[in-house]
Amino acid sequence: MSETTAHTNSSDGVTPVIEAIGIDVGYGSVSVIKGMHLSVKPGEVVALLGVNGAGKSTTVKALAGELRLTAGEIRLKGEVTTDPLHKRARRGLRLITEERSVFMGLSAADNLRLGGHNKDAVLEIFPELERLLRRKAGLLSGGEQQMLTLGRALASKPDILLIDELSLGLAPLVLERLLTKVREAADSGTGVLLVEQHIRYALEMSDRAYVLSRGQIVLQGDAADMLLRVDEIERSYLESGELADTTH
Ligand SMILES: Nc1ncnc2c1ncn2[C@@H]1O[C@H](COP(=O)(O)OP(=O)(O)OP(=O)(O)O)[C@@H](O)[C@H]1O
Ligand SMILES: [Mg+2]
Repeated sequence: MSETTAHTNSSDGVTPVIEAIGIDVGYGSVSVIKGMHLSVKPGEVVALLGVNGAGKSTTVKALAGELRLTAGEIRLKGEVTTDPLHKRARRGLRLITEERSVFMGLSAADNLRLGGHNKDAVLEIFPELERLLRRKAGLLSGGEQQMLTLGRALASKPDILLIDELSLGLAPLVLERLLTKVREAADSGTGVLLVEQHIRYALEMSDRAYVLSRGQIVLQGDAADMLLRVDEIERSYLESGELADTTH
């Protein structure tokens, strides 16, 4: 584990599915992310942790192509990209956010049909959706909506999956179920960047983790090592008192 600025470790020769190299990102004149280095390799789940306002969503949006960089570069499977999200999606990137991206007025089945998703593949991942297919997505529980969203993303076998708060307001059991599927996807090759408020769950199913504070990586290392000192990490970096919001 190192407490210095992150640097990509390419020593094993594996090309990251996504990599941020010294990126600065902000909103207008407000700078949020400063000089960040971060990478996710195929088959890895990498947690991105930090208090509210640390810059997790800003990082994810930049990686997804939803925010412009003011410095540095992003590489997708080794190639520098400035493409917007829909083009990164064509290259195997999927973004899942807390805003469940389902059409609430359409049935679950129509939600799958509309995007040309492979319904059978989704049902294989989450068989519990089968009996809910005819229900309007707006009438599904939050967990069921996220199953639909995540199932859809996983069924496309993405190379890169960016997840910003899958679990908002979900019961622990549902979260575990969802995260298990994320882990399985990584085990078959997907590289996952996971923003998750439930730090212990996140670390338990991640390979590595970065801790972000005020737009900079202040700690990075093996998730298992971090889990061993999770209390200390929480005290030092994740409940700074400034903005920690446990109801979030
Ligand atoms: N659209 C925006 N315009 C201006 N500032 C923004 C905007 N979105 C976020 N910020 C600011 O950028 C900083 C980082 O926000 P960000 O949403 O990335 O944090 P976060 O780590 O995802 O927090 P949370 O855990 O609450 O989701 C915060 O200071 C926030 O106020
Ligand atoms: Mg956020």
